[in-house]
Amino acid sequence: MRMHSGVWSLRRVLMLSLLILIVVLASTTGPFASFGKAAVYPQTRFAVISDPHVFDVSLGTEGPVFQEHLISDRKLLIQSRELLEAAVSELCNEDLDFVIVAGDLTKDGERINHELCASILSRLIESGIAVYVVPGNHDILNGYAMSFTSTGASPVASVTPEEFAEIYAKMGYEQAIVRDSASLSYVVEPVPGLWLVAMDACRYRENAPEATSVVGGRFSEDTLKWLDSVMNLATSSGKALLGVMHHGVVEHYKGQQRFFGDFLVEDWKLIAERFAASGMKVVFTGHYHAQDITKAAFTTDIGGKKRNVFIFDVETGALVTYPCPYRVVEITEDQVMHIRSHFIAEIPSHPAGFQEYAKEYVHSGLTRIAYETLRKYRVNERSAEILAPQVADAFIAHYSGDEVTPKVTIDTSGTALWAKLVVWVQRGLINGLWNDLEPADNDIDIDLSTGSWTVPSN
Ligand SMILES: [Fe+2]
Repeated sequence: MRMHSGVWSLRRVLMLSLLILIVVLASTTGPFASFGKAAVYPQTRFAVISDPHVFDVSLGTEGPVFQEHLISDRKLLIQSRELLEAAVSELCNEDLDFVIVAGDLTKDGERINHELCASILSRLIESGIAVYVVPGNHDILNGYAMSFTSTGASPVASVTPEEFAEIYAKMGYEQAIVRDSASLSYVVEPVPGLWLVAMDACRYRENAPEATSVVGGRFSEDTLKWLDSVMNLATSSGKALLGVMHHGVVEHYKGQQRFFGDFLVEDWKLIAERFAASGMKVVFTGHYHAQDITKAAFTTDIGGKKRNVFIFDVETGALVTYPCPYRVVEITEDQVMHIRSHFIAEIPSHPAGFQEYAKEYVHSGLTRIAYETLRKYRVNERSAEILAPQVADAFIAHYSGDEVTPKVTIDTSGTALWAKLVVWVQRGLINGLWNDLEPADNDIDIDLSTGSWTVPSN
C-alpha cells in the first residue's frame, strides 16, 4: 500500500498554524482573485463510495413501522452492513492512497450505525489506506433515528456535528489541515500537492424532532467565504483541487432542479461556477443514488479577464441501491483522470445472483412508489398498474448510468385519458431520466487540462 501519512504529524501542526493565518488573510480577497497558472495534479489512485446508509440490524427489522419504511424505500438496509464490508474488503486489496465517502453513512444518523460504519471503514486505515468522509442529509441530528419492535418504533440517539467529527476523527477531522468553524467542511492533503476539499452543505440544524431530515443542501455565507479563501489559497500555493460533498452541484438530467431540486445544493449554478473558476475540476457527489457524471463549462470573469473553465460532477450511486457501485479513480502523470466503476457482485447472504436480486428489489420498491404517486394524481388503478413499472424502469436506467434512450420512454397504450394527460404533464421527468447528459457515467477518462473526455475501449 502507498504510505504518505507517517511523516506528516509535525508538518501538519506547522501547516495548520500557517494556514489559519493565511486563510484569514485570504478571506479578504474575495472569490477568484488569485486565479493563476493551473496546478498540476499529482499522480494518485483512490476510490469513491457513496450512501452506504449503514443499518445495524440489532435496531430491529420486524414490525409494521420498519416494514413500511423498507417497502416504501429503495435501500437495501438489511444488507447495508454486508455491502459496506464487501466494498471495503475489495478496496483493501487495491493499491490506493485513500477512499472518500460522499455522505449518508447511516440510515438516519443513529449513533450506533455511525459507530458500526466507522468500525468497518477503519479496516481500510489498518490496510494503510486513508479514509475521508463527509456527512449526508441523513447523518446528523436526525429525529428519525429509531429502533424497531414488533409493534412500533422508538427514538434512539443520533449524533451532534461535534460527535460526528469525533466518531470520524481518523477519517478526515484529525488529518485536516484546516477546518470550517461553521460546518463540518475541511481540507486534507492526501498526497503532496493535492488538496481534497471535503464539503458539508447539509441542513441538520433545521431538522425537527421525530421527523425525517431536511433533504436539501445549502452553504451558509460563512462556509462560502471559507471555501473561497481555501480555494484562493490552494491556487496561490500551487495545490491541485478536488472536492467531495453530498449534494450535487450540476444537474444530472434535464429537469432535475424542477422535479428533485433538493438533490442539488442551493444556488448550484453559481456554486459550480465558483468551484470551476477556483480550479476545482472535479467534485465527487452522491445523494441521488445514481451513477452519473455531468460536466458544466463556463466563461467567467477572473481577475478582470474572461476565462473558460469547467467542472465535472462525478456522482456515485448508493452502495445500498442497485447497481451497488463504487468507483476507483486514478490520476496519471499526463493529467488524465481514469474513472472505473465496480459493482458488488456478491455478499454472504446472496452468494449468487445478487445483482439480479438488487435490481428486482429496487424495481419493486420504485414501482410501488410510482403507483401510489399516480393514484394521488387520481390516475385509475388499471392505468397506474401499466405506468408504474415504466416509471421504475426510467429511474433504474438513470441509477445505472450510460442510459440508452428507448424509442418510446413511456407507453400509455391501454391507459385512461386522464392518465395520458398526467403522463403528458410529467413527461419531462421520464424523458430527463432516460436522456443521459454528457459525458459517460461509469467508465471514462477525463483530460484534466482541457476538460475533454473519452470512453476507454476496455
Ligand atoms: Fe442517500
